[in-house]
Amino acid sequence: MNRRDALTAHLEFFQELGAEGFSREPAWRFRGERLAHPASPSEPTNVDSEASSTNDETTPTTLDQIREALGDCTRCKLHQGRTTLVFGVGHPDADLMFVGEAPGRDEDRQGEPFVGRAGQLLTKIIESVGLTRDQVYIANVIKCRPPQNRNPELDEVQTCEPFLFQQLDVIRPRVVVALGAFAVRTLLRSEQSISRLRGQVFDYRGAKLVPTFHPAFLLRSPDRKRDVWEDMKKVRALLSS
Ligand code: URA
Repeated sequence: MNRRDALTAHLEFFQELGAEGFSREPAWRFRGERLAHPASPSEPTNVDSEASSTNDETTPTTLDQIREALGDCTRCKLHQGRTTLVFGVGHPDADLMFVGEAPGRDEDRQGEPFVGRAGQLLTKIIESVGLTRDQVYIANVIKCRPPQNRNPELDEVQTCEPFLFQQLDVIRPRVVVALGAFAVRTLLRSEQSISRLRGQVFDYRGAKLVPTFHPAFLLRSPDRKRDVWEDMKKVRALLSS
C-alpha cells in the first residue's frame, strides 16, 4: 500500500469510528512509532493445543461436525436462559479469526455473533483491515448468552472452550484477534491485563494471536480506538507477510 492509500485508509477508519478530527501536533503524528511496539517486547508465548478435546470420541474435521456435536447443548446452566446457541459465522477457511466473549441480547435472538452495537463497530474494524465479515470467521468463547450479560463463570468456560479450540483447529487461521480481556485470558491462559498484553503478538496454535480491546469497551472508551487501529495495522502486516 502506498503512503496516500495508507493515509486515506487511516482517516476513513477514524471517520467511521466517529473521530471528530485530527491534530497536527507532532506528538500525534509520531505516536505510532513510539507506541506501536513495546520497547522490549516480552517473549512470545507458545500455547499448545492443550485442553482441546471434548468427551466426544473423534476429532472433528469440519465446522459442521463441531456444530453437530454441540447439538441442542445442555452441558452447562447457560442453556436454561438462551434463545439460540450462537456457534460462529464466516468463512470456514478464513485467514483471520476474531474471538469475543459471549453472545449478548441481539446475538441470542439472531443466532449470530457480534450483530449488536459492538458488532457494528467490529464490522468497521474488520473493514479497516481490508476485509468483510464474510471473509473472516467470528466466534465467541461462550456460545450461549449469560443472564443479564454477566461475566461467564469458570465452569461455563471450561465446558464451552473445547468447542472454540476445535473451531480454531478446523479453520486454522493465520491470525487470531482476541477481543477483550476475557478472550485473551481464555486463549493465552494469562492473568495479565489486556492493556499490558495488547501491542504484542503471540504464537498460538500455529497462528499469530493479536490481543486488542473489545468493541463494547471501545463504545465506552472511544479514546482507545487508536490503539485498535495500531493493532489492526499489525494484523494487516501479518496477513500480507
Ligand atoms: N460481545 C461478544 O463478546 N460477543 C458477541 O457476540 C457480542 C458481544
